[in-house]
Amino acid sequence: MLTPHRVFKLKGISKMMKPVRKAILPVGGLGTRFLPATKAMPKEMLTVVDKPLIQYAVEEAIAAGVEQVILVSSRGKSSMSDHFDHSYELEQVLLERGKTEAYKSITEWLPEPGQVTVLRQQEPMGLGHAVWCARNLIGDEPFAVLLADDMILAEPGCLAQMIEAFQEYGGNLVAVEEVPRQNVDRYGILDVVEDDGKIARANGLVEKPNPDAAPSNLAIIGRYILQPDVMAELSNVRKGAGGEIQLTDAMARTLNRIFFRGIRFEGRRYDCGSKEGFVQANVAFAIAREDLREGVTDALREFCNG
Ligand code: UTP
Repeated sequence: MLTPHRVFKLKGISKMMKPVRKAILPVGGLGTRFLPATKAMPKEMLTVVDKPLIQYAVEEAIAAGVEQVILVSSRGKSSMSDHFDHSYELEQVLLERGKTEAYKSITEWLPEPGQVTVLRQQEPMGLGHAVWCARNLIGDEPFAVLLADDMILAEPGCLAQMIEAFQEYGGNLVAVEEVPRQNVDRYGILDVVEDDGKIARANGLVEKPNPDAAPSNLAIIGRYILQPDVMAELSNVRKGAGGEIQLTDAMARTLNRIFFRGIRFEGRRYDCGSKEGFVQANVAFAIAREDLREGVTDALREFCNG
């Protein structure tokens, strides 16, 4: 059933605000930093402990109340669609062999029929282009964007925290964190005008600035809640940093009319697009699990003591 539009309190004024019902997960990138692993396998199918990155992201979106997940994929990545479908032969064999836990591990989290839509980005023209490919499915509603390779260990999940803040503030809202100044050239960076320590409002955005010229070290990480106006701007932006269509450039074009805020979420982010971040995520997620904590901690201690 569709969520009815709710009346939210916005800066003291009651205003009809549409809820966030849809999430775009762009998964069409080449994953060059993870070659050779990503030669024949999508980066988003890399596993952290025992689940692929894409499953964590879809689960985070659904737990936050998202009704429709849109995977913007590309050629050669059909394993992702298969992952969100039944695997009848395997299910049958597991049931016959009495492997109930294994059976549950492949069925319990399956999305509702029709809840995951897959479309293709025909060329890897950047994150902004991937988001724009979903414009006809988004229509005129605010929507979330989750980058599956940014994994966030948090309870409640990062998107759920953002939706709570969005209900208060509206506008465009992104997840942010402070990064070392020498790394700002890897991120979209906020030019901050107001900051209460949790929510920072920006009047400027720069994609991958030079560390000397960066307006702050507050970086956008892979979670966004955006107004549909961004789609119209994406139709007009030209290729930016790295020869790609940048989402940051389109968001920057709405700053004159839509409030832009960053939220410092509670939780820890792991950049699973990098090898170091991916290994860290595996350790952190393993240690967060009761069944693995002791064995992994002991092994780490042994490695470290050499
Ligand atoms: P990245 O910047 O990590 O690019 O994209 P990438 O191609 O995945 O990886 P590298 O840098 O070559 O190693 C961030 C997110 O945007 C998606 C990616 O799949 C990833 O989830 N993306 C990027 C697209 O969907 N399409 C693109 O054209 C580019």
